[in-house]
Amino acid sequence: MKAKIGVLVSGRGSNLQALIDASKSGNLAAEVVVVISDKSKAFALERASNAGIANFSVPKKEDRDRLILEYLKQHQVEIVVLAGYLKQLGNNVLSAYKGKIINIHPALLPKFGGHGMYGINVHRAVIEAGEKTSGATVHLVTEIYDQGPILAQKEVKVDQGDTAEILAEKVLKIEHSLLVETLNQFIKK
Ligand code: GRF
Repeated sequence: MKAKIGVLVSGRGSNLQALIDASKSGNLAAEVVVVISDKSKAFALERASNAGIANFSVPKKEDRDRLILEYLKQHQVEIVVLAGYLKQLGNNVLSAYKGKIINIHPALLPKFGGHGMYGINVHRAVIEAGEKTSGATVHLVTEIYDQGPILAQKEVKVDQGDTAEILAEKVLKIEHSLLVETLNQFIKK
């Protein structure tokens, strides 16, 4: 039986797409059963629709975490993946899925994580700090933002002259396989 995963997103959804594709081609021991976004216009929702996956947007702050938990339960989700989800998760979801929520972050945590460290900001900070390597991290989600136990990391080289945009592209390229591989290992455990 394939594990049922719920994916939380806020934007483009290329990591979501990687999960959908890997699942379809038999390279992921899981099936994406529901996609939930805090942004109603997130392209990730379109990707879900195109793949015939149930999807919801939860724009209102007051109801957000209650609805997220409701949708996850409704679809019998076993593992939650945050794939570019920009909001902090509520305690109800965190405790219902304790040890079962994973996030992908576009840097080598514990460096370049925490408040304000998302999207292009992360890559700008890496370049400004003069780092020679960056990469991506998949980790368990706990109450403390970006600080849950690390499951896997993959590095990329920061070359002289790399802009934040170039680095973002390089990191994104390795994110997709890292997420799929780590999720497979996580499911096996
Ligand atoms: C990725 O860089 C991921 O590491 C970060 O947000 C970005 C999401 O990209 N958490 P996408 O929406 O999956 O294309």
